[in-house]
Amino acid sequence: MTLFDGLYRKDNPYLLDLERSDQGFANEMRRSTCIGCHVPNNPTKMRRLVLLQTPAHAAAEIERVIKDVQENKMPYEEWGDPAFLDPVLRAALLQYATRFQAVVLQVKAWEKQHQQNAYEPKNVVQSATPKSEQ
Ligand code: HEC
Repeated sequence: MTLFDGLYRKDNPYLLDLERSDQGFANEMRRSTCIGCHVPNNPTKMRRLVLLQTPAHAAAEIERVIKDVQENKMPYEEWGDPAFLDPVLRAALLQYATRFQAVVLQVKAWEKQHQQNAYEPKNVVQSATPKSEQ
């Protein structure tokens, strides 16, 4: 059983790495208060509810997380302005987020490669016909 069951193949060699980097990242998001708002009961009534508290959700939002923290848009005050984030927390959050993102990219690249392999016989037949004759 992994946190990513159903999302990625069980034989993906980067899954353990993904879980580990997610733990560090999730910890930093908790320390930086992100998880207080980005949960299903949506205390600040976001119009597009961005969930961050599960690894799969965090993986789906990782680009936006990094961008918003880099641009000091998050965390957020209840009344709509960016909230102060301790520079030490901010640096740690970005460091773990970037690490998590790198592993997410590895996992996805591996998945893509294996999807293509599944169709290999079909690809071979197609490539036997020269482009000019198609
Ligand atoms: C006090 C509540 C609150 C906290 C704390 C908070 N957020 Fe948010 N977050 C929001 C709200 C509300 C929005 C929607 C804002 C908007 O649409 O202008 C949002 C939007 C976002 C988005 C989506 C923006 C987009 O581009 O669509 C991301 C990603 C995000 N937050 C990440 C974070 C991270 C990372 C942290 C911690 C550093 C954090 N948030 C802390 C309330 C919060």
